[in-house]
Amino acid sequence: MENLDQLVQDAVSAFANASDGAQLEQAKAGFLGKSGSLTERLKGLGKLPADERKQVGAEINRAKTAIETALEARREALREAHLFEQLAAEALDVTLPGRGLHQGGLHPVSRTLERIEALFRSVGFIVADGPEIETDWHNFTALNTPENHPARSMHDTFYIEGRDDVLLRTHTSPVQIRSMLAHVERHASEGTMPDIRLIAPGRVYRVDSDATHSPMFHQIEGLWVGEDVSFADLKGVIADFLRKFFESDDLQVRFRPSFFPFTEPSAEIDVAFMGGALKGRWLEIAGCGLVHPNVMRFGGVDPERYSGFAFGMGLDRLTMLRYGINDLRLFFEGDLRFLSQFR
Ligand code: PHE
Repeated sequence: MENLDQLVQDAVSAFANASDGAQLEQAKAGFLGKSGSLTERLKGLGKLPADERKQVGAEINRAKTAIETALEARREALREAHLFEQLAAEALDVTLPGRGLHQGGLHPVSRTLERIEALFRSVGFIVADGPEIETDWHNFTALNTPENHPARSMHDTFYIEGRDDVLLRTHTSPVQIRSMLAHVERHASEGTMPDIRLIAPGRVYRVDSDATHSPMFHQIEGLWVGEDVSFADLKGVIADFLRKFFESDDLQVRFRPSFFPFTEPSAEIDVAFMGGALKGRWLEIAGCGLVHPNVMRFGGVDPERYSGFAFGMGLDRLTMLRYGINDLRLFFEGDLRFLSQFR
């Protein structure tokens, strides 16, 4: 059956010439389709004499199997080739450099805060915190602020709607009360209480908004309570801190008498630089004083036995001075052209 062998050969080469699935199916039709050449042979069987029919039928079937096997092999080969093509087309060059991976950085206020925390830790202060939604009692009453004090008015303080006993803290000073109460309780069973020495940074809120005031800003509270803590300690700690913070001995520190309900005596802390753009101008950076006896009592500390000082610094203000920034609002607008300068 030479011509059947030839037919198989033809099929094999027709399949090999097909370069995709559609061409292959078309080639298949030429042999195995309704009027394909092999199908025609099968149809022709009926015309053969009965004694040849069986043998020729077997030959044709063998040829058919050979063609089908070749077809399946070619299908598989084309599938594989297609897969490799796809893999090659979608390949990633992992050696290419990344595209525009922007490196973030700390916000200038956060940088200042980290720096201040490190400086105070180095002289034995811990870092404490308290809630931003505060009770009127912690924010005002326990800080010796009278019922009719203007700071308590709606013009100055954000209250929580429908309540007059809960507010957004207007300063970090309520942390003084919370820390004293917790410290006293922690050491209640001991005859004596170790010093409280902490700073408490955080967000505070006031009804105020212009180039130098934002309704939300940052303060750092400081508190040192112990036996014989005096105004001299306050001056030493603050002066030392400011020189380290501004990395300069070329600066003057001034304690200007002032008033706060929760300290007595009270002072504002001003600094003046001996050089640079701000040379010779006194700049207010903090309020401070010796903790008022009433405040000590509200904190559970005996003012006859202990004394202490407290201060509240403007963190944003310190950051502006350190980096020479003149508009407070830049800190809160999130403009990358500004922020990326601090990376
Ligand atoms: N809480 C005061 C303010 O916000 C600052 C201050 C803190 C003053 C501690 C004295 C002692 O202005």
